[in-house]
Amino acid sequence: MPSDVKYGYQLIAKSPKYMEPMAEDPDMRYAGNNLACVNCHLKAGTQVGAASWISVTDRFPQFRGRSNSEGTIEDRINGCMQRSMDGDKRPVLSREMKSIVAYMEWLGEGLPKEREKEFKDFPKISIPEVAVDLEKEKHCLLKNVAFALAKMERGND
Ligand code: HEC
Repeated sequence: MPSDVKYGYQLIAKSPKYMEPMAEDPDMRYAGNNLACVNCHLKAGTQVGAASWISVTDRFPQFRGRSNSEGTIEDRINGCMQRSMDGDKRPVLSREMKSIVAYMEWLGEGLPKEREKEFKDFPKISIPEVAVDLEKEKHCLLKNVAFALAKMERGND
């Protein structure tokens, strides 16, 4: 694995150690919370249905409604840096940004074009059309609590 890809991997997998308040070097504390990118982008960005990064670099530049402009992969990463990681943007030419992009490119290497869409986004959820019935929910919850307590008393759990 090339060294920039490896550093990119460390940044996304062990973000608290490399870019957050726990980083040894105070100059490298450019993210604000202690989340790792992989808390949301599961299995180091390879999990289908969890905003996978496999072939993500091929989907950029792309138009973003939020900013009403064409955005690059670096803009998108900085979007997560600022919002999800509560941090600062990283310069496009910084070693960190280049390494994260190198890691993402490496992930998609050799993937046939027709398989790229499999890895995109989160699954769409279908919103139920019925309104929530709070009384019914309360009844169900109380029933479950009573059941759990009874089970505990019997010492089964
Ligand atoms: C708190 C959860 C969370 C964290 C932490 C997070 N992200 Fe994201 N990220 C998201 C969500 C949600 C999306 C939007 C996915 C979509 O559009 O379906 C996203 C989208 C992305 C995309 C675009 C994916 C695509 O398919 O277009 C990239 C690239 C990305 N994030 C990189 C990062 C990097 C790098 C980090 C760490 C520095 C990070 N993210 C941390 C939640 C997170």
